[in-house]
Amino acid sequence: MTALVVFESMYGSTAAIAEAVASGLADLRVPVTVCEVGLAGAPSLALRPSLLVVGAPTHQRGLSTARTRDVARADGTGTVSRGDGVREWLDQVVGLASGQATAVFDTAVAGRLAGSAAHTIGKRLTRAGAELVVPPESFTVTGRSSGLRPDELEKARSWGRSLALFAVAAASGAR
Ligand SMILES: Cc1cc2nc3c(=O)[nH]c(=O)nc-3n(C[C@H](O)[C@H](O)[C@H](O)COP(=O)(O)O)c2cc1C
Repeated sequence: MTALVVFESMYGSTAAIAEAVASGLADLRVPVTVCEVGLAGAPSLALRPSLLVVGAPTHQRGLSTARTRDVARADGTGTVSRGDGVREWLDQVVGLASGQATAVFDTAVAGRLAGSAAHTIGKRLTRAGAELVVPPESFTVTGRSSGLRPDELEKARSWGRSLALFAVAAASGAR
């Protein structure tokens, strides 16, 4: 049994959520690897994790593009993801997604018009045959680069713990 958490992050909030989700999975003894999307590459899915978790920041109500990442980099407040994002990674891996147990999350500002990168990720993966084990989850930032709302890290850890059951179920189904 393994879980793989793949994330994109420009200012660090989505990276922090990814680590907190991984801590939650590890709390329930699921062996977990956390991987920045530019380092994940296509082989990450070929290894067939029991549970795949994918997270990204919401940009322009969906997934980032080269242009929105450039906007974030131009802020000069420090960049975690220096290359391609989840959008381009999905282009590489969707062919391997069939039957893959998956959970998706994003970070976004609060509000009705915020949009959701997680919904876009979820749609692309389910269209490719992946199984979303829980609905897309969202974690709230206080502004573009000002970090997470208090309590979001604990919420992420708790969400990670709730995902452990699905990793166990997927691993036993695969046996
Ligand atoms: C170019 C750009 C566009 C953005 N568009 C949205 C948006 O449409 N909705 C939203 O909720 N947040 C938007 N944001 C804010 C991001 O969601 C926020 O920067 C992100 O959650 C921070 O995560 P990170 O620290 O992992 O990069 C945008 C940020 C940038 C840089």
